[in-house]
Amino acid sequence: MTIVRRPSHPAPSLLGGSIETPASACRHAEGRPALPWVGEPGTVGTVAVVGAGKMGLPIAALYAGHGWSVIAVDVQEAVVDAINAGESPVAEEPGLAERVREARSAGRLRATTDGTAAARKADVVVIIVPVLLDDEQQPDYRHMDAAVAAIAPAVHPGLMVIFETTLPVGDTRGRYVPRLEAASGLRATADFFVAFSPERILSGAALQNLAAYPKLVGGIGAASGERAAAFYDSVIDAEVVLMSSAEAAELTKLAETTYRDVNIALANELARYADRVGVDLQEVIVAANSQPYSHLHQPGLGVGGHCIPVYPHFLLSRAPEMELVELSRRVNDGQVGLAIKAIQKALGGLEGVPVLVLGLTYREGVKELAYSRAMPLIERLGFHGAVVSAYDPLLTAEEVERCCATAYRWGAGGPFRAIVTQTADPLFRTIDFDAFPDLAVVFDGRNSLRGVILPERVAYRGVGVPGTQPTAQPAAR
Ligand SMILES: NC(=O)c1ccc[n+]([C@@H]2O[C@H](COP(=O)([O-])OP(=O)(O)OC[C@H]3O[C@@H](n4cnc5c(N)ncnc54)[C@H](O)[C@@H]3O)[C@@H](O)[C@H]2O)c1
Repeated sequence: MTIVRRPSHPAPSLLGGSIETPASACRHAEGRPALPWVGEPGTVGTVAVVGAGKMGLPIAALYAGHGWSVIAVDVQEAVVDAINAGESPVAEEPGLAERVREARSAGRLRATTDGTAAARKADVVVIIVPVLLDDEQQPDYRHMDAAVAAIAPAVHPGLMVIFETTLPVGDTRGRYVPRLEAASGLRATADFFVAFSPERILSGAALQNLAAYPKLVGGIGAASGERAAAFYDSVIDAEVVLMSSAEAAELTKLAETTYRDVNIALANELARYADRVGVDLQEVIVAANSQPYSHLHQPGLGVGGHCIPVYPHFLLSRAPEMELVELSRRVNDGQVGLAIKAIQKALGGLEGVPVLVLGLTYREGVKELAYSRAMPLIERLGFHGAVVSAYDPLLTAEEVERCCATAYRWGAGGPFRAIVTQTADPLFRTIDFDAFPDLAVVFDGRNSLRGVILPERVAYRGVGVPGTQPTAQPAAR
């Protein structure tokens, strides 16, 4: 595509339409310790962060950096030991290791497995343990129920409890407030405070996102909302937005994540059509998004991770009539089947065919296998008779063998007839195709190998990207 630049229009091209949200600079003065902390501006207290994982640890480090005394709570001893040793158990989060080290040496961060004791000492408890799906695609509350059961007996007058984990609408008020009240004998809003504030950041950019994205807060009653907003005002450099209720904040998180799932489903359907009519959908997306009302996402092998494929089901669990939401899930999950059909067609069948899958995590740069599309991909390749090996730069050979397939050693080459990329790790662009003399097709599941020169004997298949046919046969072996 050629862009004709106009001297009368000096602003950068809108092509691509991506929205950059700049990080806010920290404008907080050193907070004055308050005992107890009652939400007064300019003061800090003690906060317990329950669940010191990929999200919990960055927020714990952020709070400590803003002068709060932080107790990180986790059920995993190894996580607790690492934090207490001043180390970050979460790799691949830029800047986190330094922040944890600093917070620990400033004496503002410690970790424990004892949630009850931590909540007893805290002015604020922030809970961020996972809620996933069970086999019936219903919310699986086991981690959250256990976390709430641990802190509930320690709820004391004036305590602020904030749920940051994404929850179905109504759960903060309907499922968890009664448990906190029953175990403590206290009344929410009268004796202690409860709010919901969704965590909206992305793994791999957590600290940048925390300083950039508005922090949404919805209370159980006005006083809870105001107390939670006062807490975030003391620790968040970005805007703090007090919404009308916990339910409005809960629904906002489900709305923004489901929007992405539905949008990706549309991109996938457009990709199927573009393939049929021989149009390059990338060119179309970039051009369409140059108009401010179009924000088309990228097509691909489907959607993984424990957010985007999960939260539409939180909506559906309460509103099964949401047809578009349900259909979008099916469209996105159907992408693996289409990829397999395309590979079968290119090879004339998969029985006994060695296939190499590159990228097992749900996306590049994040060591998380939850809901990764690699699992159904490998399972279905195997179902059709393929002999699957796999590689992921974030996983050891043992981890690959444990989760899914025979581990491939990067650079080893081999008799593979198909290579499928399931993440867009930049490493995969450096594949040495000479090491794969039998290779006949590359299925580029994230369209990230575009522009890589393939040997003439290898066909290219992308998602909404015009494929190429081999112009020569694989070398005889
Ligand atoms: N990962 C993301 O990109 C992301 C983005 C936005 C929001 N979120 C929200 O954050 C939640 C947590 O995600 P994550 O990526 O941090 O998960 P994670 O798996 O990295 O971390 C969760 C941590 O909670 C701990 N835990 C489990 N049960 C516990 C309990 N009863 N008490 C104390 N600790 C317990 C686990 O040991 C683990 O260390 C998600 O469910 C989601 O609602 C995640």
